[in-house]
Amino acid sequence: MKILHRQRHDQSSSMIFRKDYTLLIIYLSLSLVSGEFMTAGVVAVGSAISAGLLAGFNVINCMINECCTDRWVSTNYTDLKLTLDAKLYGQHLVIEPVVKHLKAHGKDNPSKALALSFHGWTGTGKNYVSRIVAEKMFAKGMKSKFVHLISATKEFPHKEMVPFYKDKLRDFIEARVKECPRSFFIFDEMDKMPPGIIDTLKPYLDFYENLGGVDYRKATFFFLSNTAGNDIAERTITTWTNNLDRETIKLKEMEEVIRLPALNNKSGLWHSELILKNLITAYVPFLPLERRHVKQCIKDGLVHKGYYKSEDEISDAKVQEIADELQYYPEGVLIFSTTGCKRIHEKIDLIMEEI
Ligand SMILES: *[C@@H]1O[C@H](CO)[C@@H](O)[C@H](O)[C@H]1NC(C)=O
Ligand SMILES: *[C@@H]1O[C@H](CO)[C@@H](O)[C@H](O)[C@H]1NC(C)=O
Repeated sequence: MKILHRQRHDQSSSMIFRKDYTLLIIYLSLSLVSGEFMTAGVVAVGSAISAGLLAGFNVINCMINECCTDRWVSTNYTDLKLTLDAKLYGQHLVIEPVVKHLKAHGKDNPSKALALSFHGWTGTGKNYVSRIVAEKMFAKGMKSKFVHLISATKEFPHKEMVPFYKDKLRDFIEARVKECPRSFFIFDEMDKMPPGIIDTLKPYLDFYENLGGVDYRKATFFFLSNTAGNDIAERTITTWTNNLDRETIKLKEMEEVIRLPALNNKSGLWHSELILKNLITAYVPFLPLERRHVKQCIKDGLVHKGYYKSEDEISDAKVQEIADELQYYPEGVLIFSTTGCKRIHEKIDLIMEEI
């Protein structure tokens, strides 16, 4: 399983690793010498010196290499909100709850792990928001060793191996949270996760202070899925057809759209049980994006990829040309992008590299 074979140390930290080893040898030889030739008092002094060395070493190590300390793990919520406001288009129901829940959970003693469930069509920004959150929570962003992106189809492809996956996932989460209580787990394609594996996650989302000696309550879990994506889209399209602004859609009604089918056991949704046990902190609906939102993503993409220095230089015709490469929905009006902002990067390259 890929998550278990992640390379955990880059070159600089493996150098540190060797130093650590040297310290251990010093420590052992000190203990050995003192044990054979010296008094108990000297043993104590020897250990104290080694412990002191080790503590000092850790302080310096954590200034250079990523550790689970405030220097590497801390969130500026104002900055997070500003970034999301500037970079996420057409999702008025996302930013406020996400920032609010992260902030509440970021306090000293959260009562349970944070579990946010992101719902919506592909390309609406579920992964994008997760990445921005990781970048704001961890100095090293998605590259942080405390951020774990787990894709159901990549990590758990074979149904018959579920018992094996369960053990591995349990070990993995335990080890990661032990290493850093503020670990961040992003489960992508949750709707494709074999059911048994979801059971494994339940205890970590509960209100236990202590589970086998580990406290999971500071951990953050994001569950990304297309579940209820069609219902969310339908509701958004109806609003548009009725000539109403999409911003009139309230979070409360969208939450119902997500939760009710699961509670009625109609859809056999993956999160039925998590909902019934109140283990999900909040549901976050991602609405399908309209052509105008896609155009904004395209402008960002063109600047980001270096085709233009600023948005002002980009002609509407060029944006239109790229936007026309994507598919829209529903028949006749063609307002909503079927793939949201997901495939714009390849379309940008396609159009821009043409001569
Ligand atoms: C948090 O971010 C805001 C906006 O970027 C900035 O003005 C503020 O100084 C930051 N606060 C800290 C403590 O870094
Ligand atoms: C929901 O449906 C599944 C099978 O589709 C069944 O096994 C389960 O018992 C049902 N749960 C409830 C609460 O009705």
